[in-house]
Amino acid sequence: MKKFEERKFNIPKLVGISEKTIEEHLKLYAGYVKNANDLLVESDYNRRFPFEFNGMRNHEIYFSHFEGGSTLLNTSSPIAHIDWEKFKALALTRGVGWAMLYYDPISDQLIQSWVDEQHLGQLSQCIPILALDMWEHSFVADYQPSGKKQYVEDFFANLNWESVVERFDTVSKR
Ligand SMILES: [Fe+2]
Repeated sequence: MKKFEERKFNIPKLVGISEKTIEEHLKLYAGYVKNANDLLVESDYNRRFPFEFNGMRNHEIYFSHFEGGSTLLNTSSPIAHIDWEKFKALALTRGVGWAMLYYDPISDQLIQSWVDEQHLGQLSQCIPILALDMWEHSFVADYQPSGKKQYVEDFFANLNWESVVERFDTVSKR
């Protein structure tokens, strides 16, 4: 089996989300990579592998959203036609998990969906375009539990929309 490589991210100073939170969060991501690699060679491979693998991949999307700093959203992209207020409300779903935007290549459309723990509820055959981490470790040190809504707002303030549009363009072959 090939080993998964831990990715490095060039994350600028962010609005609201502290360097310390990102540093700790990256350590957590590194743990997912390590555990996914460990489970590849263990006999209980199947038992926890989806949790570690999806945790690794979802975090790679999440951190990539900050790289290069915030950019404006190109209004001619289908990404601009998403109801982002609805997405923000989705992100405030109670409990830990992920607010996700997927591209479904079969029906050729973008679909917003909440995913509880990452091994439960990822949409089959859909490709993640945007991943917003709503596990408490991603915001609670900077925002407290009551500041979840501001964290969501700041995530969008920090978002490199160009990278999201690029990801969508690549997978939808537009
Ligand atoms: Fe996380």
